[in-house]
Amino acid sequence: MARILPILILSILSYSLAITLASATDGVDDDSFVRAVDRKLLGLKKKEKLSHFRFYWHDIYSGRNPTAMPIIPASNASKTGFGGVSMIDDPLTQGPELTSKLLGRAQGFYAQASLQEVGLLMAMNFVFVTGKYNGSTISILGRNPVFNKVRELPVIGGSGLFRFARGYAQASTHKFTPGTGDATVEYNVYLLHY
Ligand SMILES: *[C@@H]1O[C@H](CO)[C@@H](O)[C@H](O)[C@H]1NC(C)=O
Ligand SMILES: *[C@@H]1O[C@H](CO)[C@@H](O)[C@H](O)[C@H]1NC(C)=O
Repeated sequence: MARILPILILSILSYSLAITLASATDGVDDDSFVRAVDRKLLGLKKKEKLSHFRFYWHDIYSGRNPTAMPIIPASNASKTGFGGVSMIDDPLTQGPELTSKLLGRAQGFYAQASLQEVGLLMAMNFVFVTGKYNGSTISILGRNPVFNKVRELPVIGGSGLFRFARGYAQASTHKFTPGTGDATVEYNVYLLHY
């Protein structure tokens, strides 16, 4: 026993050394696809700015040109419509009227994710169509308890002019028609971006 023990310890040590060496070598290989980039090359030399965007989001179920459609029905065991999913391609306009200037669209889906109340999981991209913002997007992922006066949703990123963007959106219902489910919601988005 007295002789076996040092040999056992030695073999355990050399085994773990081999593993350490192997993972260290893997680490070197893994890093080869990453490189540091000068932020100036990506146009990020400017100071980050804070902007406030205000517009109206129109969820339209009624009429001949709906922009919101239920795609997964709610669980029949739920009183709050849990599990129901709607897909949207909603217009974003400058003013509360649908006829006011189109600024972009909200594309994505929302799902009823709360068993106790109406609390939606919102997953949508706002794609802008005007001026220099044309084609740039911001991504929103958050919780929306629609019967609260103001709901806050995180902006988790963006593309185009909104690369590296982050911030939050405050949503407040401007108009809701219970008969059809149509809603107009004011969005105030506070965004840090370059
Ligand atoms: C829900 O629907 C399933 C399948 O159609 C049915 O078996 C079940 O009894 C329903 N539950 C309730 C609470 O209505
Ligand atoms: C926005 O971009 C699209 C696609 O590149 C283009 O067809 C459209 O004319 C542009 N709109 C404006 C207002 O610049």
